[in-house]
Amino acid sequence: LPEPGTVEFKDVTFGYPGAEAPVLSGISFTAKPGQTTAIIGSTGAGKTTLLNLIPRLYDATEGEILIGGVPLKELGREAISRNISAVPQRPYLFSGTIASNLRFGAQDASDEELWEALDIAQSTDFVTEREGQLESTISQGGTNVSGGQRQRLCIARALAAKPMTYLFDDSFSALDVNTDAKLRAALAEPTKDAAVIIVAQRVSTITEADQILVLDHGEIVARGTHEELLESSETYQEIVTS
Ligand code: CTP
Ligand code: MG
Repeated sequence: LPEPGTVEFKDVTFGYPGAEAPVLSGISFTAKPGQTTAIIGSTGAGKTTLLNLIPRLYDATEGEILIGGVPLKELGREAISRNISAVPQRPYLFSGTIASNLRFGAQDASDEELWEALDIAQSTDFVTEREGQLESTISQGGTNVSGGQRQRLCIARALAAKPMTYLFDDSFSALDVNTDAKLRAALAEPTKDAAVIIVAQRVSTITEADQILVLDHGEIVARGTHEELLESSETYQEIVTS
């Protein structure tokens, strides 16, 4: 069996219920633990759809997705939510304290572990400055924190769960380039044994990725490292220069 946390797509096709054309076709790749797999491509290419198939928000129409060699359908919901942390493109906070938001998926996390996660997510200052700190209240939908803070709290939440697989859907684009770089440097250690899949808008976010998948109209049109793609893929060159 592949290592726990390995994500494998085998010739996956997906169409939204009721839609005529598939949104994803013939998607095959392996995201290995200890590696970062990046997905890049223009808006509507199918990046979010691809990520959403992993925690089974939708099921593949054709083909198969496996985690650690086990087909998703055999894993069960509980194992999926225990092993995978997803930071969605529109991160969501519910009304309640910061601590309870961070413990969603990590009920047993100590305050110390929450602070560690916040530190990695570059959110220590922001939480320290709030009255009540971890016990300060987030309003419904997180409307009393900024978009960037919301994104970072959702990254901290993902970290607190200590999963084997991390999915980041465009989680760094609301951050300034400096914070983005700091956060990703801080992520290296806690995610070093996990399979990390990052959807990115900015090429600078993914130049270090072990493999980059270039998605175009629901198909992987090129794959490789940043250097390889600069040589081989016109679509990638266009993304880099746009
Ligand atoms: N789509 C759909 N029904 C949904 C979500 C998406 O029909 N519930 C369609 C979109 O209209 C789009 C395609 O599926 O044509 C891919 O959408 P998505 O995966 O969200 O694309 P992304 O690559 O994530 O686009 P973005 O960069 O804008 O996030
Ligand atoms: Mg998207």
